[in-house]
Amino acid sequence: MTRFQLLEAHSFESVCIVRLQPRDVVGIFKDIAHADPRLAAAYERGNDLPGASLRAWADLIASQLGDADRILEVGAGTGIFCAALAEQVPQAEIVGVDPSEPMLAEAARHHGHPRVHYRLGTADALPLDAGSCDAALLSRVVHHLPDRPAAARELARVLRPGGRVVIRTTVRERLDAPVYRYWPELLAHDARRFPAEAELLADFTGGGRFAVTRVFSFAQPIARNLAELRDRYALRAESKFGVLSEAEFAAGLARLDAAVSVEPAAGPADGDGEVLERYDVVVLERAAEPA
Ligand SMILES: C[S@@+](CC[C@H](N)C(=O)[O-])C[C@H]1O[C@@H](n2cnc3c(N)ncnc32)[C@H](O)[C@@H]1O
Repeated sequence: MTRFQLLEAHSFESVCIVRLQPRDVVGIFKDIAHADPRLAAAYERGNDLPGASLRAWADLIASQLGDADRILEVGAGTGIFCAALAEQVPQAEIVGVDPSEPMLAEAARHHGHPRVHYRLGTADALPLDAGSCDAALLSRVVHHLPDRPAAARELARVLRPGGRVVIRTTVRERLDAPVYRYWPELLAHDARRFPAEAELLADFTGGGRFAVTRVFSFAQPIARNLAELRDRYALRAESKFGVLSEAEFAAGLARLDAAVSVEPAAGPADGDGEVLERYDVVVLERAAEPA
């Protein structure tokens, strides 16, 4: 199968910063899952994309970011994409910002790179100078942001005019991750916290800060087969599992075990035995004169 799979193009028509000291940033960080060192370590193990999938994603993201000497990843987590982008974009400096010290510790441990710098901070108070970045990535983070318009204002501040932003997420109306097949409770939960496409675009285009360049979908294998996916989910590494009781988690794992026993080598609706995960990709361009 081709690693670049453009599944669907979606149609669209198209400062006052509170400075916080790093300790304060951790103090106000309420995302318990990502602030827990044990979960951060499990996250690193449980979210490792197959190498070819990660390279395909990094290639796709880099192709949308345009010429960039300094790329920011907001909500960098354990640095999987920071290191992959550093490999993909020679000479570029990558700055990975995250409010979780345990996640950044895992990033430094597993995804250190001479051109990648990890910094403590939140999306709405980035520890960076105005106009100091050429491009930015927000991968699987927009649903965590307590105030997306504030994050968009802050992103506009640190990006140069014309700078590109890639948002990698799943919008509410297209939530279709493999995990929902086995834990349907998570679909209802995520429908409450993930923004709809129109909401997301409005948050970033508000005030004329960003223009929408493209919205499309991209899918890559996340596991070679269902059995491998089962072992990954059994780590309970995704923060979304935190909302499930022990019994709910066990019931979903039992549903997945049953599916593995029927069809260990292939997931339903996936090709070549691999289990695919699809994401929506929104590409934005910072306007010349942000409001
Ligand atoms: C699901 S992880 C994504 C990590 C990485 N971008 C990836 O795709 O693998 C979400 C990350 O967002 C971070 N995060 C949560 N709230 C945030 C905020 N207000 N500003 C920036 N990052 C935040 C968490 O600490 C966590 O590392």
